[in-house]
Formats: sequence, structure tokens, C-alpha cells
Amino acid sequence: MLSCRLDPKGPSSGFDPLRERLSSFDFPPEIRHNLSLIEQRFQQIVNSKVDLVEETSGYILNSPGKRLRPALVLLAADNRAEALEKLILWGLTVELTHTASLVHDDLLDRAPLRRGQPTLNAKWGDEIALLVGDFFFAKVASTLAALDDSRLISLIAETIGSVCEGETFELINAHRPDVTVEDYLRRVELKTATLLATSCQGGAILGQRSEEEVAAFRQYGHYLGLVFQVVDDILDVTADEAKLGKAVGTDLRQGLATLPILYALNDGINPAPIVAVLEARTQREEDVLEALDLVRRSTAIERAYDYANELNARARECLASIRSSYRDTLEALTRDLLVREH
Ligand code: FPP
Ligand code: MG
Repeated sequence: MLSCRLDPKGPSSGFDPLRERLSSFDFPPEIRHNLSLIEQRFQQIVNSKVDLVEETSGYILNSPGKRLRPALVLLAADNRAEALEKLILWGLTVELTHTASLVHDDLLDRAPLRRGQPTLNAKWGDEIALLVGDFFFAKVASTLAALDDSRLISLIAETIGSVCEGETFELINAHRPDVTVEDYLRRVELKTATLLATSCQGGAILGQRSEEEVAAFRQYGHYLGLVFQVVDDILDVTADEAKLGKAVGTDLRQGLATLPILYALNDGINPAPIVAVLEARTQREEDVLEALDLVRRSTAIERAYDYANELNARARECLASIRSSYRDTLEALTRDLLVREH
């Protein structure tokens, strides 16, 4: 049950994005409350003199994202009351960075759907999506300016650089069935895990933790990020599209050899139909569906989940040396990310 106040100006359709996103995880009431404060600030941040910018930014912020990164900020800081204003600003910073990267990712991927609704590029076109992503980056700079902390500015600068490198690495590895598991892990670390690690690290810094604990939280975020992306890549093969809220089979169609696809290629089955799609020698729908079916029927999904489980155990090990009022929540989060369906 939610104990936070919900935005009275929320949609009247019966669908409440805040309730939807916060109900995904079982956060303690005080964490939920502070997440709702971050949520309210989001609504203020998107105001713009240009109606279309306000409309499109509001559209993205009201979509049912999980708000995982702001939650990690609060948890890593032990939800320290004295630091609340800074935690809110840091939560906004990391979520705005994440949102901007998704807007640009959907543009690059020409994706039609995210979080169960049309993407910005699908609804308003590529030019608007590019500019709204940039508008979010401008807001990142604003929240960082308000934080006025050179440690956090450096952290975000390095992180945005890593995310861009990861995305570039992904592009140059597309249509190459010969990429290794190490290549895959490197790009996942750069494009996904870095931002989760950074969310935790900044939260731990603002929570006045010792250097050892800050480092342990960064490692925890890193492994959590790897779990998140490996499961994302499994769901891209196995999920129900309606539940996932985005198209499935996208990685294969884009020629991306993700972990389950790499495992399937080495499963002892005939890899030729999968390789043909990866190399874009065929884009016919029946060939893509056949390749996806081969991946699903191989041992790849089970092996990828085993790997995610190992990463999960490493994330939990990072918590061993940390004093935290939220150890149970931090542990439960790693499990929730592993068993999620969207
Ligand atoms: C989603 O992954 C995408 C990312 C994690 C990063 C995208 C990064 C960019 C577009 C570079 C610009 C970003 C910044 C921060 C400057 P995915 O495509 O595997 O997941 P999906 O299936 O949800 O699309
Ligand atoms: Mg994508």
C-alpha cells in the first residue's frame, strides 16, 4: 500500500503512473514518500516557455518508468533526512540522464514503443525527439548547478561519456556474430551499469559514508546494472510484448548478439538461421521468428539466467561490509530485478 501523497493533478483516466511505478518494488514508506517528492519536482522541472517542449517532456516523465535510480540514491544515503534536498537533486540528475538517454536510444533504434506507449520519435518525429533529449540534458546541468558539488559534476561527466562509448561500441558490434561474451559485458558495463553505479555512489557520498562504503555501494550498483541489462536482454527474447511495454526481438533484428543470443550460438544447435538474421542477410519476419524460437528452445535462456544469478550474488556480497537500515530492501531489489517481467 502506498503511504505517499499522490499528485492531485494526476491523470483522471484511472491510470496513475506514480502508483504504477512505485508499486513495482516493495519500498519502505519513508522511501516511497521521498520518491514522491522527487516525482513532484520532476513535474516542475519540465516547465517550458514553448508549449510543445512542455507537452513532450511531460509525456515522457508521466510514462510509467520504474524510478529505480532515484530509489538507489535514497537507499545508498540511508535516506538521510539532513541531506534530503541534495538527495532529491541527485535523484533528479540521474533520472533525467537516464530519461535523456532513452529518448535518444529510441530515436537511434527507430523504436515505436516504450513503457507501453508510443515513443517520442514515433509520436512527434525524430527532430522533436532529438531536441527533447537535449532539453533533458540541459535540465541535468541545472540540477548539477544547484548541487554545486564538483565530485558529483565529475561523476556525471564521466558517466555520460561512458554511456555514449557503450552505445557506440554497441553500434560497431552490430551484425557481428563473432563478438565475445567479454565484448558484450564491456558494452553493458558502459551503457547501463555505469549509471546505476553512479546513482549509488553519489547517494553514498551525500549520505556522508566512508570511502570504503562509497566504493562498496558503487560496486553494488555496478552488479545491479549488469543484472538489469542481462535480464533486459533475456526479456527481449522471451517476454510477452504487452507486459514488456516495448517490442520484443529487437536485439536480434538490430543484429545485436546479446548474452542469450551468444549462448544460443554455442549451444550445439544449428546456428545458421540465427547468424543469418544477425548479419542482416535476411530481415523476413518468418526468419526472425524462427531464429527467436531457436534461441528460446536452446539452453541459452537458462544459462543467461544462471549468469544473472551469479551477478546477483556478487551484488549482495558488496552489501556485506555496509551498515544500512535498508539492507533487506537492497537485497530484495536484486531479486526483483532478476524475476521481473518488464
Ligand atoms: C537502453 O538500452 C539504452 C541505454 C542504456 C543507453 C543509450 C545511450 C545513448 C542513446 C547515448 C546517449 C546517452 C547519453 C547519456 C549521452 P537498450 O537499448 O538495450 O534497452 P531497450 O531495449 O530498453 O531500448
Ligand atoms: Mg534500445
